[in-house]
Amino acid sequence: MTILITGGTVVSPTGASAVEVLIDGERIAALLEPGSSAAESLAGNADQVIDAAGRYVIPGGVDGHTHMEMPFGGTTASDTFETGTRAAAWGGTTTIVDFIVHRAGEPLLDGIGAWHDKADGRCAIDYGFHQIVSAVDSDVLKGMDALMNEGVTSFKLFMGYPGVFYSDDGQILRAMQTASDSGALIMMHAENGIAIDVLVEQALARGETAPGYHGTTRPWETEAEATYRAIMLARIAHAPLYVVHMSAKQAVANLAEARRAGWNVFGETCPQYLYLSLEEHLFADGFDGAKYVCSTPLRARAEGHQDELWRYLRTDDLSVVSTDHCPFCLKEQKELGIGNFSKIPNGIGSVEHRMDLIYQGVVDGHISLPRWVELCSTTPARLFGMYPRKGILAPGSDADVVIYDPAGRTRISVETHHMQLDYSAYEGTEIAGHVDTVISRGQVIVDAGRYLGRAGHGRFVKRGLPDCLV
Ligand code: URP
Ligand code: ZN
Ligand code: ZN
Ligand code: ZN
Repeated sequence: MTILITGGTVVSPTGASAVEVLIDGERIAALLEPGSSAAESLAGNADQVIDAAGRYVIPGGVDGHTHMEMPFGGTTASDTFETGTRAAAWGGTTTIVDFIVHRAGEPLLDGIGAWHDKADGRCAIDYGFHQIVSAVDSDVLKGMDALMNEGVTSFKLFMGYPGVFYSDDGQILRAMQTASDSGALIMMHAENGIAIDVLVEQALARGETAPGYHGTTRPWETEAEATYRAIMLARIAHAPLYVVHMSAKQAVANLAEARRAGWNVFGETCPQYLYLSLEEHLFADGFDGAKYVCSTPLRARAEGHQDELWRYLRTDDLSVVSTDHCPFCLKEQKELGIGNFSKIPNGIGSVEHRMDLIYQGVVDGHISLPRWVELCSTTPARLFGMYPRKGILAPGSDADVVIYDPAGRTRISVETHHMQLDYSAYEGTEIAGHVDTVISRGQVIVDAGRYLGRAGHGRFVKRGLPDCLV
């Protein structure tokens, strides 16, 4: 089966140009100059020709941070691999990397089989796994090396969530040293969880129980301090570092300083930190703020975090936008925290909307069109060891392609989204752009509002070594 995409503007991290894309089976076969003899002769022979006139042709989105059906906060994230990857496909994401959970004291290798069982035969798009690592010991360190052979080449550590996923500094340093030897990438949840627990206890004792206090008990200092500590520990271990879900401008400033010194440290932010805020969302009336409880927390717009994060995306001090998709329904799940914000399960669902929300950043003049592709597709593919199979339209790459209509419009709403989630954090938001066609390994899975995907089409991506010199 061959598909020729004609008339569109192909966007890569280095620019945009009018070229035709030839897909043969599951791979990109060629990029062709329009009107060239090769393009003319193929036009009549391709099994299918897609006219992309007036639209962008981009590599499918790579969401490097999702939590499908994650057991967390006394409940389980509401999207399964089936529903979550279908929603991702609708939004132009063709690869996710999800986190295998590890609980302190349990064998590290117990998780991977369970995660394969959950995902195998159910995903609409390709998927890989990171491994969460809790409370590092010598068995855990051996397990990290074993997982490298399984295509799990990145490991998330937590400076937050004491008693759940938390590791102390010595444990973190040992895991970083192990990663330094193997070439794995350490991902860090950088929040000072020990200090946060004190602030939470004191807030609750004062009767501050509403969702907004989730934010005030995780002040920016707890993120900036932990980020700085993680950078220094990574420096001691000679290990690259990837700080996940960054929301505080002061934390990113610490990262930016290390990057200016030439250190291999990388930062990720998420749409919620670019668009939503402590005042408007987390402190919404009544219990509504629970919809926006995630960690790190939403930050105060009055302090200017959101604008600074956009700036850091432009200057490449932040390298990736992922969703940290971790949906919990308001009914029965978020409601676990009525009367006590610390019991609200942490997480926001947006796997369906990342490509659109960050494209809106192009429309609003925050980032360039090539930078959109780089942040949402190319750099996550490189950092997570999937490039150039994913993240670029080039001969030999997987034919994961999105045709994006800059003249289209997208209205985000719980009424129309495909995530298994009873509210939308972006209810009513209008995007000046629209995902028209989504192709996953040569199969058209979304076409002009029709879903043609299938559970089980998505395959596990055995990832290679992260490319930490991007
Ligand atoms: O609130 C969040 N971020 N939930 C998911 C778990 C994590 O820390 O990434
Ligand atoms: Zn985290
Ligand atoms: Zn997460
Ligand atoms: Zn359209």
